[in-house]
This record gives sequence, C-alpha cells and structure tokens, in this order.
Amino acid sequence: MGGGIHMSHITIQGGSRLEGTLAVQGAKNSVLPILAAAILHPGRTVLRGCPHLSDVESSIRILRHLGCRVDWEGGDLVIDASGLSRWDIPDHLMREMRSSVVFLGSILARTGWAELSHPGGCELGPRPIDMHLSALRQLGANIREEGGFLRCTAQHMTGREITLSMPSVGATENAMLAACGAQGETVLVNAAREPEIADLQAFLCGMGCQVKGAGSSTICIQGRQPTHDVCHTVMPDRIVAATYLAAAAAAGGEIELRQIQHSHLSTVTAALHAAGCQIYSGPGQTVLRSEGRLHSAGTVRTAPYPGFPTDAQAVLMAALLRGQGATVFVENIFENRYRHVDELCRMGADISVADRVAVVTGVPRLYGADVRATDLRGGAALLVAGLIADGTTRIGDIHHIQRGYEDPVRDLAALGADIALEEPPPAAHQ
Ligand code: UD1
Repeated sequence: MGGGIHMSHITIQGGSRLEGTLAVQGAKNSVLPILAAAILHPGRTVLRGCPHLSDVESSIRILRHLGCRVDWEGGDLVIDASGLSRWDIPDHLMREMRSSVVFLGSILARTGWAELSHPGGCELGPRPIDMHLSALRQLGANIREEGGFLRCTAQHMTGREITLSMPSVGATENAMLAACGAQGETVLVNAAREPEIADLQAFLCGMGCQVKGAGSSTICIQGRQPTHDVCHTVMPDRIVAATYLAAAAAAGGEIELRQIQHSHLSTVTAALHAAGCQIYSGPGQTVLRSEGRLHSAGTVRTAPYPGFPTDAQAVLMAALLRGQGATVFVENIFENRYRHVDELCRMGADISVADRVAVVTGVPRLYGADVRATDLRGGAALLVAGLIADGTTRIGDIHHIQRGYEDPVRDLAALGADIALEEPPPAAHQ
C-alpha cells in the first residue's frame, strides 16, 4: 500500500455471474481492539490470520511509536510489547483512524498515563467519545480535554459497576481494556454484544486476564495484569462475508464462503433470503445461490448486534438496486450513513433519502459510471453495484475500501468478476 494509492482506481465490467469458493479474511473490527490490547502484556503476542489492511498498518505505526516491536511473519503478526516506553499518541497517528481511541484504555491500564488527541473519522456524522471517557472516569481516570487533546492520569483505577447509556462497541472495548488495569472487579452493564467483543475477551483470557460475559450485555472484568504470551487466531470478518454474499446475490451465481460463522450473519442472510436467494450453512461454511433477480427485502432496520449491522446496510442496498419493488432502510446507528447514495444514483439507481430512512426502488438497468468511494462500506457498495451495471464502472478514492478489505479485486476476480486494479503510471523522474 505504497504511494499513489489515492490515484488508484478499481474498474469493473458488469454482467459476470459469481461462482466459486472463498476463505474470508480476519475481521478488522476484531483485530483493531486486539492490537490495542496487546500492549497490556509486557511480552509477546502472535496474531494468526491478521488481515493486511491499511487500518492494521495504522495500528502498527501506533504500536511502534509506543516502543513495541512489530513484525509480520507470513500471515501472522508478532508484537513484543516488553519495550513499551511511551504513553502518548501523536495527532497525525490519531487522525488516521477512529478506532485509535481504543488505545486510551490499554495505555492507561499499562502505564497509568496517556496523552492523545481526539480520533479522526467523522465520515458517518459526528462520532463522539463521551461514553468512552465517562467509563474511564468512573474507573478513576482523571481526563482533561484541552484544545482537542486528552491528557489522562490513572495511577489507581478501581473496578466498579459501569452502565453504558447505549451499547457502544468502542466504549465497551475501551472500558474492558482499562478495567484490566484497575483494582478489583468491574461490571459493565448494557455492554455491546458484537461477536468482535467476544473475540477480544478470548484474546484477553488467552493472556491470563480474567474477563467473562462478552457476547451478553453484562461483562465482568477482574483487574489483573496479564500473565503470559498469547497466540490468537482472529475471528473471520462477518462484514466482508456479508459484502461477498450481497455481491453474489446481486450478480447471480453460487458462492461458498469458508471460515465463517454463519450465526454471525443471520440477519444479513435473512434479508438476502427474503429477497429471493437460497442460503445453506454448515460448520464454518455458508453457501448462497441466486438467480440474480432479487425482489424487495421489506424493511431493513440497522441495530446493535444481534440486529442487522449498520456496516452491511450499504452493500445490501447496492444488491437490491435492480430488484423488483421497493426496500426501505432505516439507519438507527449513525446519523450520516447514506453518503454512498449519491454515487449509486450516478449509476442510475432510484433511492430517496429522508433523514434516517432510505427507500430503494429497483430499476431495470444500472449504468457503469465514474464514482468515488465516500467511506469504507459505501465504497464496498460501489463494488457490488459495478457488478450489476451495464458497461464499465470506475471507482476512485479506493483507499477507503482498503481500510477494511484485504484485496477485493483478488477475491471478486477469483469468483469470476471482470475486475481490475488500475494503478497510476510511476512518476516520471524530474
Ligand atoms: C464500531 C465499528 C463500526 C460499526 C459500529 C457499530 C470498529 C472499529 N468499528 O464503531 O464498524 O459501524 O461499531 O456497529 O469496531 N456514540 C456516542 N458516544 C460515544 C460512542 C458512541 O454517542 O462515546 C454513538 C456513535 O456516534 C454512534 C453509536 O453510538 O452513533 C454507535 O457507535 P459505536 O457502537 O461506538 O461504534 P464504533 O465503536 O465507533
């Protein structure tokens, strides 16, 4: 992911059916908090199946800045946090991605100090961190907010019951990490129940921390230092899986996804089934068959897990653009998560948006166009739309897509899509 990334494009010739089998990459939303958690232990962490993503690279830059040694060994990422020597994250690293804020909990737990700026990323509307800060303050952290910077001290954090006002994924993770460094027991009430939080718990327990309850709304953490090195396999990415299922649903064909936990996808597969796809599952495997003639999926409301994931809203919407009838989307998690709609409309889609509701009415044809990824999942929606558009779709600003998809060109080409990465010519020597 070197220079020129902002000028690269993905081009797709629509019209191919998708056929074949794909192993799904490790989950971005699981590995990012795990990378933050790795610093709790002054020793070695091995992450198996760590996806190669620009957000992972951003986390690696933070880890190295803090004094950790980080090396790729094939598909494994090896982190040695024994030499951690700093507790600050400079502004330019914080701005690279929003989930950098989860380092706050782990830096405080390990060192008792932290200094960082507000995280980047306002692409989905305002993304406050008030719940993160409130949870850490309740554990005893002293946090001063000055001119966009957070200066924190937490020499003596004490476990207690903390009730989140809503089940924020990031606030749950931050509180779990900080609580590992507190004295005594912390009970998190109204915690987020996403599978990635259960993966974080599995990782922490692998290090010798005592955490239980993740996956339910009450999580108990006994403050204690990790006791040993850990080797952890990152869970499969349910949103990447949802993207490829949506792609095959739209394009028609039959695909099999491996290394995936079907239960994590039940609301997505239910919507695709309602729209006319056949779906089968076995251990670690999901098969989708589609004639490529979808109909309405009814009303799709995004909600915290186990509800329909907001991260799969855009790709499902794209899959339904040529379906028969209208599908209504209600986005309940983020205020501004329809930025892909204007790009899809450039391709001939019929979508009307009012506040949090989008109504998609199927059209007979979509047309290839020059479009831009507006954000990570909105960019993935353009990939899906390109597969069912007449002619060539050329997608720009693909660095958004590369934040969360290891290699969508490789994956979709393996399934038979006519897709290519178009890189700018090397800069001429002056
Ligand atoms: C995580 C995921 C993201 C997903 C989202 C919801 C990662 C790296 N990202 O993001 O892909 O779309 O969960 O499933 O795992 N909020 C506040 N105050 C806070 C925190 C959150 O008001 O202190 C609001 C947010 O603005 C948003 C809602 O709560 O409207 C949900 O956000 P949250 O669950 O925290 O999402 P993230 O952890 O940012």
